[in-house]
Amino acid sequence: MAIAVVGSTNIDMVAYAKVLPESGETVKGEDFILGFGGKGANQAVITARFGVNVYMVNSIGDDVFGETTLSNFAKENVNTQYVSRVSGPSGVAPIWVDGEGNNRIIVVPGANGKMTSEQVEAALNSIEDLEAVIGQFEIPTQVTAAAFKVAKAKGALTIFNPAPFEPIPDNLLQNCDWIIPNESEFAGLHPTGKKPIGDSEILELASYLKVNLCVTLGASGAALVIDGKLHRVAAPIAKAVDTTGAGDCFVGTFTFGLISGLNPIQAAELGTKAASLSVTRLGTMASYPNTTEAQEMLNIVMSGS
Ligand code: RIB
Repeated sequence: MAIAVVGSTNIDMVAYAKVLPESGETVKGEDFILGFGGKGANQAVITARFGVNVYMVNSIGDDVFGETTLSNFAKENVNTQYVSRVSGPSGVAPIWVDGEGNNRIIVVPGANGKMTSEQVEAALNSIEDLEAVIGQFEIPTQVTAAAFKVAKAKGALTIFNPAPFEPIPDNLLQNCDWIIPNESEFAGLHPTGKKPIGDSEILELASYLKVNLCVTLGASGAALVIDGKLHRVAAPIAKAVDTTGAGDCFVGTFTFGLISGLNPIQAAELGTKAASLSVTRLGTMASYPNTTEAQEMLNIVMSGS
């Protein structure tokens, strides 16, 4: 049983300051972390920590960031057979986190933007036991569309995280089994951009997109629409110090849950547990549950307690 994440890798440069600067202003920060990130890489790493055989499909640059990204994947048990090296810089993400744990991110795609449809088609076609494919918007959209087409042809489950937001083209949408937006992506996807996000807006969007929908709502947990019915899953109470990558933690964990035999509501419960723990620690994937914590969370969800 294998998952492929067709998506981005970045080096995250995270600066922490109680109050973030306005335009033209300089403020002193409290902390700084140089770490591994990228929505795709984050999603791959958390599935690996749950014990899944996960393949990263990506391009890294010919710089030192590319080298260290490969070493980190090796340490995290993520298969890099389908990570290619291209000339130029790897992806980077300068990130600012304020005193409430909220972030602002600039993603500079670098090598992520050089991925090709041929590359992802060849990779997915050669993975024999492919069970699920996860995608996001941090690589060229038509590359993700090509990947999801192959995934569906092979009978794999497709999970799409529309981040950072852009409209989903029809040729990608038609091959999505699940779409997992956060609140701002939800507003972008909804035909009228409606806010606040209530039950009726969520049901409207699911029926408009004609997919299974799982909206992540931060401290309020998640809302799922399955076969036209809405389900809400609460998140454990957590004191957030850094919410960066929490959504990716949810997406990877939720996907693991679905392919491991949990029903979607249980998978979302597991996802909210993992994401809630991650916001209590600094860093992106560095804040995710370790393998022991992941197993403990899975046991709790499976026992229904
Ligand atoms: O979702 C968080 C991620 O967004 C960071 O790791 C950063 O690299 C950007 O991709």
